[in-house]
Amino acid sequence: MNLELDMYGLWEGINEVIVTTVSSDGKPNAAPIGIIRREGKLMVRVYNGSQTYSNIKETGLLAANMVFDLVLFVRSALSDVDDEVFEFIKTDNGEDFPVIANCNAWMLFEAEYNSEDTVLVAELHPVNGTIRQQEIRPVNRAFNAVIEVAILATRYKVFKNNKYLIQMESYNNIIYKCAGSTEKNAYDLIFRLL
Ligand SMILES: Cc1cc2nc3c(=O)[nH]c(=O)nc-3n(C[C@H](O)[C@H](O)[C@H](O)COP(=O)(O)O)c2cc1C
Repeated sequence: MNLELDMYGLWEGINEVIVTTVSSDGKPNAAPIGIIRREGKLMVRVYNGSQTYSNIKETGLLAANMVFDLVLFVRSALSDVDDEVFEFIKTDNGEDFPVIANCNAWMLFEAEYNSEDTVLVAELHPVNGTIRQQEIRPVNRAFNAVIEVAILATRYKVFKNNKYLIQMESYNNIIYKCAGSTEKNAYDLIFRLL
């Protein structure tokens, strides 16, 4: 299926999205993952140890959900999300597959991978997709900073190295200068979930 990647917001570079997957026994999962688009190809690099890694290996499928919900980015990075965040679409062979209910767009992919040791590197082939809303969003530096802090927090969780905490705190000023209540709440949530 030839889906127009630009229309879905999947541009050249690394696109931070919420990836939804499902385990072989039907349990949905969500996690922030970067979808890499270079020279017309789409890839993901997913580290061993995550539920997303196991689910992709079990089903060979993932969906990229384009969302601007910072709290969902933080929760899905650092804990489990409530079942209500999901809705289910049908795959080509009639099985239920989870996507994020309030996403702006989702795209379902088949993940073709060869190596899968510490990191599963997969090329993504679009299967299906839907655009639901075109949201107008100016750049907010606090929004971007919270995403950076969330990434550092996931590294701190794995490696328990204080350098990540120090890097996280270096974003304090920019977040308190530029944030609205959503960004502040998401930022505080990161520290509560650590
Ligand atoms: C913005 C953002 C982007 C991320 N990108 C990736 C990625 O590309 N690959 C990866 O393995 N982990 C990535 N992570 C970390 C995972 O989201 C994190 O390990 C998460 O806990 C995995 O959840 P799961 O066990 O439910 O799959 C990212 C985290 C954030 C906040």
